[in-house]
Amino acid sequence: MIKFSKKTNLLSLHTKNTSYIMQVFKNQHLLHIYWGKSMVLTERNNYLPLDERVNMVNSDPADKSYYLEDLPFEYSFWGKGDFRNPSLTAVDGNGAVISNFIYESHTISNGKPEIPGLPSTFAEEADDAETLEIKLIHKKSGVSIYLLYTVFPSFDVITRNVKIENRGSSPVMINKIMAVTVDFAPGEYELLTLPGAWGRERWIERQSVHHGVVSIGSSRGISSHQFNPFLALLSSGTGENSGEVYGFNLVYSGNFLAETEKNQDDRVRINIGINPSTFSWVLAPGEVFNAPEAVLVYSDKGLNGMSGIYHKFYVKRLSRSVYASKERPVLVNNWEATYFSFNEKSLLDIAHKSKDFGIELFVLDDGWFGQRNSDYTSLGDWVVNKDKLPDGIEGLSGKIRSMGMKFGLWFEPEMISPDSSLFRSHPDWALQLLDSPPAEGRNQLVLDLSRGEVVDEIIRMLKQILGTNAVDYVKWDMNRSLTDIYSSTLPPGRQGELSHRYVLGLYRIMDEITSAFPDILFEGCAAGGGRFDPGILYYMPQYWTSDNTDAVSRLKIQYGTSLVYPQIFIGSHVSAVPNHQLGRSTGIEMRSHTAMMGNFGYELDFAKLDDKEVDIVRNQVSFYKTHRKLIQFGRFYRLLSPFEGEKASWMIVSEDKSEFVLFYYQILSEANMSRSSVKLIGLDEKFFYEETGSEHVYSGSELMYRGYFLSGFNADFQSFVIHFSKTKNS
Ligand code: GLA
Repeated sequence: MIKFSKKTNLLSLHTKNTSYIMQVFKNQHLLHIYWGKSMVLTERNNYLPLDERVNMVNSDPADKSYYLEDLPFEYSFWGKGDFRNPSLTAVDGNGAVISNFIYESHTISNGKPEIPGLPSTFAEEADDAETLEIKLIHKKSGVSIYLLYTVFPSFDVITRNVKIENRGSSPVMINKIMAVTVDFAPGEYELLTLPGAWGRERWIERQSVHHGVVSIGSSRGISSHQFNPFLALLSSGTGENSGEVYGFNLVYSGNFLAETEKNQDDRVRINIGINPSTFSWVLAPGEVFNAPEAVLVYSDKGLNGMSGIYHKFYVKRLSRSVYASKERPVLVNNWEATYFSFNEKSLLDIAHKSKDFGIELFVLDDGWFGQRNSDYTSLGDWVVNKDKLPDGIEGLSGKIRSMGMKFGLWFEPEMISPDSSLFRSHPDWALQLLDSPPAEGRNQLVLDLSRGEVVDEIIRMLKQILGTNAVDYVKWDMNRSLTDIYSSTLPPGRQGELSHRYVLGLYRIMDEITSAFPDILFEGCAAGGGRFDPGILYYMPQYWTSDNTDAVSRLKIQYGTSLVYPQIFIGSHVSAVPNHQLGRSTGIEMRSHTAMMGNFGYELDFAKLDDKEVDIVRNQVSFYKTHRKLIQFGRFYRLLSPFEGEKASWMIVSEDKSEFVLFYYQILSEANMSRSSVKLIGLDEKFFYEETGSEHVYSGSELMYRGYFLSGFNADFQSFVIHFSKTKNS
């Protein structure tokens, strides 16, 4: 898996289908040689022939053909002649840039170490995972950098993370520390990112990589609705099923930066890590700083190839919840049915109807505590409102559970309302600058999670409520971006650490709470999908994908989200029409067919459904539960993109290819439309598949190479979800 050749100084990492190769080069610089399809390099010493260039700077005056800007680095530094955006910028006690780190040694060990204080993917014994740790040193300052690479051969994944240690005698200021740099060979590439906004999360955007820098990122304190901490570099023309894809996904929930830079020689550099524009860190002598990890995936089988690798790896090796591989309940959430206006009776009415439909989990959303009758008040006062729930959470939960359903509860632990007892007793617990009142988002302020006592209080509060009430599920919300980044407890020179310290505080809370209550199913949320990232998914195995529950919008949101994240992580609910976010009306079928692509639920007032819709809901819950294991954990393939036209389609295939579910959506209709067809993928061409509920049998080869034909589209917003299984004699 990981090999070192003393003769050539090559360090090679191999997974089942990929190779990643670097070399300790002249001057002990660690250079990038290759990443891609499995490859064997013969032993020679000119993998990177050097030439004299014009108007370049020699970091080694004795060698006139050695230019840092002409070389592909594994980790790069500004200040000695590499003028691209660096991996690290740090200054010593004199304010001088620490540059020119060189290779000192490396070690190879089994397994994968945890990253202190940060979520990260993990290895299990059966994986044969190996970790390479390369030590780079800067002799004068006493600063060392450790580059860690873990190889997961059977998953085809390599993870990378970095730590920096100060063994010198004066403090070092880190201004930028990336998890990963990869310098790609000169060529034509495309960049794929997942931009968005509230209600439009993770749309797919592709652009050619031109000269200069394209950067995406967040400075909102959370990974954000606006960009996911993910990018992929594609070979030109890459599609869903062919072409080369290099994926980078950061396991981090705070401010991040991902940069793509094409230089004068058409070399392309990717950097991904903590956003340096909102970060600095003082590293005192003897201290170590750990940066978050990135998960690297290469596929030569297009975007579906990459997604398949991320999906499998994240279910098995990112999510540490006991629910990671367990089937999830169909839930009902009261939010869009009642908003803040409910009492025990109205909630129990919803629960009774849901139970009758076969729904298994009732979730009580916002509004159950303090005086929370609007979003102007009470965050921080986590005491049940007895006017609404006279028997408390315990009473409500008991009644729901005695109906044979599970009970879930909403929290927004990181927030504080200016109108709250908590704020009145601890006004300084909110993030705020000294010169002006703090900016409000959704009428609320953010607790300063860099402070130990604030973190301790949140942990105490959650432990108390979850420990004394029967709660099976928690929805963990977070509804605004961070501003007023100042903490009264940090010294002036360390205020730049606050955004990252907030994330560390958050992870400490999540770690303690999810460890203390392993049987509670946690679902993340940040005004919908504003923090849908691997950092949160490490603790919480599902996520409320978007507040936008419109079926058509959700096609794009879920299609984009599926690029990286498995369908089991994707919370998707059927809501009322006209849709509350954008006013569109779609039928109950289209809404359910869209929602049942992922982790399925409802969020509407059932009393408003007519008899026909009631029957449809009952059948859909039953269909979903019958095929739940397949839908939640099967291999997901995108077939037709809602970004490219009025049709969308995807399918989910069982591991042994013996059954699959096909999802097909017609968005806007057209007069006089021809029949539609879609070519399926991932089936066994030798199998025969029967369409459940009809007698039609198709060969796997027909479905994949000729396609499946659909007819009967005569209106907007029509959809099909069809199950197929292998015939007995195939
Ligand atoms: C956020 C969430 C919603 C709901 C509300 C409650 O907007 O995304 O699902 O929980 O908060 O206030």
